[in-house]
Amino acid sequence: MNKERKLIIAGNWKMNKTVAEALDLIRDLKIELANVKEVDLVVCPPFTALSEVSRAVLDSNLRLGAQNMSENNVGAHTGEIAAVMLKEFSVRYVILGHSERRQYQKESDALIAKKALAVHAAALKPIVCVGETLAERQAGHTEEVLDTQVRRSLAGLSKEQMAETVLAYEPVWAIGTGTTATAAQAQEAHAFIRKLLAHMFDEAVARRVRIQYGGSVKPSNARELMSLPDVDGALVGGASLEARNFADIVKNSI
Ligand code: PGA
Repeated sequence: MNKERKLIIAGNWKMNKTVAEALDLIRDLKIELANVKEVDLVVCPPFTALSEVSRAVLDSNLRLGAQNMSENNVGAHTGEIAAVMLKEFSVRYVILGHSERRQYQKESDALIAKKALAVHAAALKPIVCVGETLAERQAGHTEEVLDTQVRRSLAGLSKEQMAETVLAYEPVWAIGTGTTATAAQAQEAHAFIRKLLAHMFDEAVARRVRIQYGGSVKPSNARELMSLPDVDGALVGGASLEARNFADIVKNSI
């Protein structure tokens, strides 16, 4: 596939996989995806598996991501994980503002913006998630919601930092539901976000930023979604938990 930006496909394992299960999955992914160079590949295991998985991916084309990070560097923050701790395990990417965290942990755009700055300060790359709910889409508010989330979640980033940030457009109604955005819906939202980035930063930054689509990506819909001009990869939940599915998504995207 001839794309303007290199595709980045990340598996968001969420709260799945013990260490033993994680290592099984990595072993299979390394076999299935050994020859893939055309796509940046990222796996985001739970924190408890990062140490072992970081060793297991050392000799591979798989890069490591975390699913969240504290906005603070150190200290009295029970249950939180700091950037320096992630760096010990060669983590490169950090998912921020996933809709599940926005919903269940009540993470705000302002908090996500602080986290994004902390991720950059540690020379890691954030994957910042945005997306509307079904009610918001049905009420015709998709663009307004995206506008607010993108502006506020990226507040304070420099142009250089933005160029190294990955965005993930994940319509909440498509996450884990089996319902995927249509190609037209995905392209429209991605183009809207890119135009907004040009406005907030500049054209060159907007052209560089990779915007992943997320929400029920599977082998059968990956090719069409990844072929869209403003879709630069995928953030994959359920289908990333099984090596064959994730590998087929990657292979169908090339
Ligand atoms: P899904 O999840 O692929 O299971 O819909 C995507 C995500 O939440 O990132």
